[in-house]
Amino acid sequence: MTFTLGPRATSAGYRLAAFDQIGSTNAEALLSARAGERGPIWFVTTEQTAGRGRRHRPWIAPRGNLASSILEVLSVQPGVAATLGFAAGLALESALAKLSVEAVLRSPESDDLKFSLKWPNDLLAGRQKLAGILLEAEAVAEGLAVVVGIGTNVVAAPTDTPTPATSLKTLGVDISAEELFTALSDDWAEFRGVWDNGRGFAEIRRLWLDRAAGLGQAVAVRAGGEPIEGTFDTIDEQGCMIVRTAAGGRVPVTAGDVYFGNAASAGAR
Ligand code: BTN
Repeated sequence: MTFTLGPRATSAGYRLAAFDQIGSTNAEALLSARAGERGPIWFVTTEQTAGRGRRHRPWIAPRGNLASSILEVLSVQPGVAATLGFAAGLALESALAKLSVEAVLRSPESDDLKFSLKWPNDLLAGRQKLAGILLEAEAVAEGLAVVVGIGTNVVAAPTDTPTPATSLKTLGVDISAEELFTALSDDWAEFRGVWDNGRGFAEIRRLWLDRAAGLGQAVAVRAGGEPIEGTFDTIDEQGCMIVRTAAGGRVPVTAGDVYFGNAASAGAR
């Protein structure tokens, strides 16, 4: 199969650069921005050999998985650009929900196919990580080149991750990376429109909180120093996670690895 944009993405003017194999779709997108590309353009592959994840972790996509990055040059502040990750989570959740209807009907009682969004930028199926999102940005002549990279485990998942991972294939969702990409490109066009260069973040935030994993649960966030422990209260108008501590404080968290429930005490160590 070949990669194609959905009808909504095509009519909204998106373009596509598809690769049989590539090191990193995020790196390729940033290279093209440095060479003058302004987007919006998708960079996609089903085999990524030197991909990058958050917190400098690798993200290798064996053939059959989906590595996709959308590049756009925007006139927004970096803090505003960072909130685009929440729109990306919503777009991916929407695409996956449509494509997994048959599998859900086969096992209606199972929680394994309940998709949720884990702060800051993961998509969970049940309690397992199905996809991750990495935002990167760089100043260029006309503004800020913003790259939103979305990696989805379609046929295979890594086994050595901090949060257990799964794939669509393991969950009984029999679709290809190409099919997922077409749906994702259309849902991206929709949620990118709602986000509206940050002006629509209040609505994105509301939709994201409706699908948030772990709201109201015990949480521990590790970001290098002392872990922050408490209850996951909400996300604020900047997209920070708000942790309510035992002492009653509300601590805004900008980055870190998040552990919920029983894993919160283990993750805090
Ligand atoms: C995470 O750590 O959870 C984020 C993973 C992001 C991986 C995607 S795959 C497409 C894009 N290209 C990359 O090199 N990384 C992102």
